[in-house]
Amino acid sequence: MAPFVVFEGIDGSGKTTQIDILRRTLISNGHNPVVTLEPGGTPLGEAARPWLKSLGNLTPLTELLLFNAVRAEHVTKVIQPALDAGRIVLCDRFTASTMAYQACGRGLDAKIVGELNRLATGGLQPSLTIFLDLPVEAAQSRKDTGALDNFESQKWEFHQRVRRGYQDMAASNPKTWITLDATLPKDTIAENIWPRLHPLL
Ligand code: TYD
Repeated sequence: MAPFVVFEGIDGSGKTTQIDILRRTLISNGHNPVVTLEPGGTPLGEAARPWLKSLGNLTPLTELLLFNAVRAEHVTKVIQPALDAGRIVLCDRFTASTMAYQACGRGLDAKIVGELNRLATGGLQPSLTIFLDLPVEAAQSRKDTGALDNFESQKWEFHQRVRRGYQDMAASNPKTWITLDATLPKDTIAENIWPRLHPLL
């Protein structure tokens, strides 16, 4: 099976930029990666995205169930078939986002979140999780002044709990997670990602 690479981090940590750089590097090395995101990646995911981000004033439990309903579709119809076809998958957020935001951020039971994550993914786990770690203050100063979504508008403490959740997951999974300082220049971050991914190709 091809490598399944997930990017994680608090809002504003630069995942999209790094995924784009890595996608271009992979293509120039002869690969044909699939780039996808959560919530999203399928018609259900795209329909649910505005509900999860801004339309709904959803309860934490509804969020947990909906993120995982969208994920079940995404894994079954997009991610697993691409991996089975030998294509590298780069995914912007996955199960660790649910653990960080719905368990650590919203306060839902981590055991239940873990079980629902497992159910939705059929046990599929990333080969590599790239955690772009950024202080909450730095993330907030990167934001433009436009309308903030349901997550961006949360207070500092929420984002701090999310960040701490990611840091704990990274510390507990040193073989499959790498933590990179997201305050570094984007090219420096990209130079640190490639040597970690290359052996998996
Ligand atoms: P998005 O615009 O994709 O944010 P970013 O560009 O920072 O990735 O919005 C997705 C939001 O949904 C983001 O704030 C994190 C949140 N989220 C969860 O709370 N739980 C999840 O399981 C996932 C996948 C995302």
